[in-house]
Amino acid sequence: MNICVIGTGYVGLVTGCVFSDLGNDVICVDKNPEKVAMLRRGEMPIYEPGLEELVKRNVDDKRLSFTEDVASAVENSEVVFICVGTPPLPSGDPDMSFIQECAKTIAASLNRYKVIVNKSTVPVGTGDMVREIIETNRRRPVDFDVVSNPEFLREGSAIKDTLEPDRIVIGAPNKLVAMKILELYAPLERPMIITDVASAEMIKYASNAFLATKISFANSIANICDAVGADVIQVIKGMGMDQRIGSAFLNAGLGYGGSCFPKDSSALLRTAEKNGFDFALLRAVIEVNKDMPIRFIDRMRTAMDGSFKGKTIGVLGLAFKPNTDDMRDAKSVEIIASLLADGATVKAYDPIAIENTRPIFPQITYTKNAYDAAEGADALVIVTEWNEFKLLNMEKIHDSMAKPLIFDGRNIYDPVKLRRTGFEYHCVGRTTAQLLTR
Ligand code: UDX
Ligand code: UDX
Repeated sequence: MNICVIGTGYVGLVTGCVFSDLGNDVICVDKNPEKVAMLRRGEMPIYEPGLEELVKRNVDDKRLSFTEDVASAVENSEVVFICVGTPPLPSGDPDMSFIQECAKTIAASLNRYKVIVNKSTVPVGTGDMVREIIETNRRRPVDFDVVSNPEFLREGSAIKDTLEPDRIVIGAPNKLVAMKILELYAPLERPMIITDVASAEMIKYASNAFLATKISFANSIANICDAVGADVIQVIKGMGMDQRIGSAFLNAGLGYGGSCFPKDSSALLRTAEKNGFDFALLRAVIEVNKDMPIRFIDRMRTAMDGSFKGKTIGVLGLAFKPNTDDMRDAKSVEIIASLLADGATVKAYDPIAIENTRPIFPQITYTKNAYDAAEGADALVIVTEWNEFKLLNMEKIHDSMAKPLIFDGRNIYDPVKLRRTGFEYHCVGRTTAQLLTR
């Protein structure tokens, strides 16, 4: 099938690659000429394990290409995927201007029947909006259909998540159109659900809001654990063994960040508000998430004699989660900003997100490895749980720090071992726990 993918962010690029790898002819479009030039040179604009090889293989086999020319890409395709960003506005609503712009461009290039598939996360009703824009702006009386096909890929495991999704959601106006998109996904042999367009749009928001709820619930339990001397890791393990609950997305820490959960939960809250429903539960989920880094910084300040002024603090991990260089809504930004505002000197290390952090914090020192970030520091903060931080030589770190003080925002270390090594160790939901030593 001839496919066009508009927008080569995480979603568009990975989607385009996977469809070309399944044997389709795919043309990926981006309005950013630098991105297109990079992709044509075989360089990836984002870090995603396995992506470069996948792009190269399909470009070499001439099934995948990149262009800025959206008009001819749309004209030559049967199916057009919209994968442009929907970043949050200050109101919490998603910015729909890229989607609207995209729909107008598609309308202008509509030369024969096409299925327009929306993959961007968009509020319920967007399918109708896209349909209306195309109807109003098309230059020829050509037929088309609009489908919602939300993505559930996670950065860092985007290719695997696209090839092996738990489910494929196809929201279509009728069965015939749904079957056309279903055919595209059939080689993956994964469970599929066909719904109306509005329900598919809602499935995406409801799923992300529910996962955010699990995380905020776990973080709230962690806060109580700290107060009563319980260990959140054991509590979550015990809860997660109940199959009705499940252990996924119950890791306590600094809260959720990234380009989706914060934006999608705010957007769903706004949709509820606009429709006269007070989604109090989701409002609380968002508040708990905002509160986690604030509580953590307060705890750090208290443990450091009430102020960061004049102190040197090492920060391990900058990206919003491991295996990505994405800094969107990364907790490191909030934490470093608070440390700097209070007069601290910051030395930071991340395996791959340093270049994306430099423009945000040009004034801090970036180190070559975790050990250099810890050397001479009055405290070390773990913000992102990269694997390479889990098995560091903690004796070496202990001996090189000015004060052996660790704040672990992701619970990656064994508190008993660290305390035995001589550290004062603070974590989330298990700092005061009477941990079993054997
Ligand atoms: C995606 C989805 O679009 C978003 O709705 C979802 O919630 C998260 O994932 P992502 O792929 O990460 O976002 O988006 P982004 O990195 O912003 O990439 C979008 C791309 O589209 C950019 O490369 C941008 O240059 C391009 N674009 C944007 C166009 O080509 N045309 C436009 O009109 C707007
Ligand atoms: C998410 C969704 O998982 C994916 O289905 C959707 O399509 C896009 O948004 P992503 O943002 O890439 O994916 O990352 P994810 O692994 O879901 O993590 C999101 C945030 O939650 C991260 O900041 C992570 O640190 C945090 N998190 C995750 C927790 O704090 N605890 C957990 O148990 C899991």
